Amino acid sequence: MTEKWIEAATSDEVPEQGTLQVQCAQNLICLYRLDGQVYATQDECSHGSASLSEGFIVEDGLIECPLHQGSFDIRTGKAVSVPCKDDIRVYPVKIQDGKVHVCIEE
Ligand code: FES
Repeated sequence: MTEKWIEAATSDEVPEQGTLQVQCAQNLICLYRLDGQVYATQDECSHGSASLSEGFIVEDGLIECPLHQGSFDIRTGKAVSVPCKDDIRVYPVKIQDGKVHVCIEE
């Protein structure tokens, strides 16, 4: 496994308190912006086949799945409410020259 930084979007494309789905190599990723900071997690919910980028950011930086309303901590990927039990993957993010770069493993 090697780490690889991939340009995923321009910083402007990630809305405050919103989501953006991006494809980085084979990985479908959801970008978020919380208090100006960009975060990245896997896009697919760990409970079922739902896209977290279609979910809703609720209090304290949680993303609520649109299908069964389970939720995850965007910063850590931790599953915090039922029916979600398995954490989701988080990806390191850096902003360079107005572009969002996500670190994936290949
Ligand atoms: Fe996300 Fe069920 S698919 S909570």
